[in-house]
Amino acid sequence: MDELLEKELRKPTLIKNPRVLDLKYIPKKLLHREEEQKMLIQYFKPVIEKPGEYSQRVSIIGAIGSGKTAIALKFGEMVKVYSTQKNLNLEYVHVNCRRARSAFLTLLEIVRKFNPHIPVRGFSSEEILKMLTEILNRKKLYLIVTLDEIDFVIRKDGPDLLYDLTRLTDDEIDMKERVSIITIVRDIAFRTMLDESTLSTLRQNTIFLDPYNEDQLRDIVADRIKDAFYEDVVSKEAADLIADIASKNGDARYAIELLERAGMHADHRQSLKVLPEHVRHANASIHPVIRQEIVKDLTTQQKLILLAISIKLKTTQKAYTTMGEVEEAYKRLCEEFTFPVRSHTQLWEYVQYLQNCDVITTKISSKGQRGQTTLIGLPDVSAEKIENAIREQLEKQADK
Ligand SMILES: Nc1ncnc2c1ncn2[C@@H]1O[C@H](COP(=O)(O)OP(=O)(O)OP(=O)(O)O)[C@@H](O)[C@H]1O
Ligand SMILES: [Mg+2]
Repeated sequence: MDELLEKELRKPTLIKNPRVLDLKYIPKKLLHREEEQKMLIQYFKPVIEKPGEYSQRVSIIGAIGSGKTAIALKFGEMVKVYSTQKNLNLEYVHVNCRRARSAFLTLLEIVRKFNPHIPVRGFSSEEILKMLTEILNRKKLYLIVTLDEIDFVIRKDGPDLLYDLTRLTDDEIDMKERVSIITIVRDIAFRTMLDESTLSTLRQNTIFLDPYNEDQLRDIVADRIKDAFYEDVVSKEAADLIADIASKNGDARYAIELLERAGMHADHRQSLKVLPEHVRHANASIHPVIRQEIVKDLTTQQKLILLAISIKLKTTQKAYTTMGEVEEAYKRLCEEFTFPVRSHTQLWEYVQYLQNCDVITTKISSKGQRGQTTLIGLPDVSAEKIENAIREQLEKQADK
């Protein structure tokens, strides 16, 4: 074996179980969210007890990292277990609409849970919906579907997705209520895009998640430490500092990201403990507003555009940059990383996508000499941090 490889592999680590620090990992128990989980179960009680006779629509609203996705997934797990035990034919499907990218692709992802071979092209939304109805009827299935981050798709394609899925039930020949829906959003503003009848249902059945306070975050962090690290290797001061920093936004995801990065940094330094300094280092390398996760989900071309925007904003020190300037920087980056250059229309689409994800902000300039142009800015995030985050990821991609 190569000496370098051997040495690196033999290096001691403080992290016993890295999977537990993965953001996709759902802990056995969600701390400080028992009441909210009970509410969700109560809302769905009729559906779970008598599938087919009732359907339900529930909305979960809460800030970044307040546990919305975790609560829905946990509920889904419980439903699946119960349904198998009782032979209920009740299925749970969880789709992240932002990741799916459009209303059509969200629908497709739902149907693919039952028929994985359906191709992306060749069908219309209506046909996909028909397929879903057929499958549910034929297999006598009842479905609870979570549309996570649905505001993204509503902003992009309008609210039809929600209505189409609701209508599936109304059009039933045997009048079975086959589809129940959980919608997840960060803030209540998306409601302005819905019609009165959908609104009134959602208004009644909303679970609001408050941001976690420092004590709650301390418990969540302690619980993760227990499962992820060897005993007594994370100092109490480091754990407290994580809870303290993350409590500014009440964001559990940020707390866990900090914990993971601090652990990795301590390993890197070959420290025997995770100390406050490692947490500070971790905190300097990430930013609570721009989500690593969102950046990771971007296509390479979208990353390049975001990188171009960040570089322009950093070098000009201005609050906004223009599409022309961004294109120029983008072309240079394509050369640097040897990626193909896309057309103006496509770049424009990427910019709109980034705006939809709240990664950038845009506004129209006031009428100047050269007419109106679109101004592009970053919300409350340092351009340099974004630049670093994207470069880190593009380089990782290039390594593969
Ligand atoms: N009560 C909790 N107990 C333990 N872990 C939690 C709890 N709440 C959230 N987490 C963890 O914190 C992270 C973020 O939670 P989650 O993904 O549910 O946030 P979210 O509200 O969906 O955020 P976003 O709006 O960014 O999607 C996840 O790794 C999750 O497992
Ligand atoms: Mg989420």
